[in-house]
Amino acid sequence: MDTLASLRDEVLAAVGAAGSLADLDEVRVGALGKKGRLTGLMKELGGLDPEARRMRGQALNVVKDEVAAAIEARKTDLEDAALDARLAQEGIDVTLPPRPDGVGTIHPISQTMDEVIAIFAQMGFAVAEGPEIEDDFHNFTALNIPPEHPARQMHDTFYLPPHADGTRHLLRTHTSPVQIRTMQEQAPPIRIVAPGRTYRCDSDMTHTPMFHQIEGLVIDRSTHFGHLKGCLIEFVETFFEVSEVPVRFRPSFFPFTEPSAEVDIGCSRKGGELTIGAGDGWLEILGCGMVHPNVLIACGLDPAVYQGFAFGMGIERIAMLKYGIPDLRTFFDADLRWLKHYGFVPLDLPTVTGGLSR
Ligand code: DAH
Repeated sequence: MDTLASLRDEVLAAVGAAGSLADLDEVRVGALGKKGRLTGLMKELGGLDPEARRMRGQALNVVKDEVAAAIEARKTDLEDAALDARLAQEGIDVTLPPRPDGVGTIHPISQTMDEVIAIFAQMGFAVAEGPEIEDDFHNFTALNIPPEHPARQMHDTFYLPPHADGTRHLLRTHTSPVQIRTMQEQAPPIRIVAPGRTYRCDSDMTHTPMFHQIEGLVIDRSTHFGHLKGCLIEFVETFFEVSEVPVRFRPSFFPFTEPSAEVDIGCSRKGGELTIGAGDGWLEILGCGMVHPNVLIACGLDPAVYQGFAFGMGIERIAMLKYGIPDLRTFFDADLRWLKHYGFVPLDLPTVTGGLSR
């Protein structure tokens, strides 16, 4: 009995001292395994007479159960400790900034749109959206482009198959139909920008069948050309992040505005490098004008009471100018190396006060 008691104490002490699951398993094999010491004592039972065998067997079973329970308890402790250690090691500090490489980059078109929206939002413009599949009325007629008007040919329109009554829907050729939808839905004063995709059946070095525009519209009782100029000059300086950019309003024609102008900004092309805001060259960046009375009438507004201005510009074009992207078509190649090079850090949202681009 003495040897059993001391063996029990020895094994339980070894269980308590096992510092790892591997150590513990060694202890288990040494006591309860096929050649273990307790198993060895069990094997000796056969040589005892019946009464002694029963007593000894009972005592051995008690010790065996005790040892097995101690091993099980120690195993749970060791496993818990191992899990705690792993959790502590793998802990994530959610207050750390993300690694930008892991989450991709913002496409220059998205970035440029966000920048333009941030600038106009700062001036009190809301964002408006409209459908990309439009009808003839919103894309053309209401914008003072009646059927047979030559401007329709210039738009290279993608038409959808005709309906039974002969009318056809189309992919909007510009964001200007959002002006019409906004005036139909909201009472003045109106101050919106409408960014979005536009489509024309045209594809070469400087045209892609799908491209992006942003449209602006302001309607109120006393809006005049001075407001248009002030607003767009402010926009140009903020967007290109240079003060005192030379800006030129060059008379032009759009059916939906009268008078109409195209806006050019000063630039230099010295040594083949384009610098905005300096030099004696000019670059056209957008179209604008005072909303034509026929457009107001088409939207149910009285031109004797309301007037306003509108403008529209191509996102790809101003993105290329600002970020020195030489080829339009690369915008749509989905080339990862290009995106890494020209893309922007995500979560770094452009704001006028915090900085537009970094
Ligand atoms: N819709 C014109 C285009 O796609 C751009 C434009 C010019 C929009 C003048 C306007 C504007 O609102 O006033 O070419």
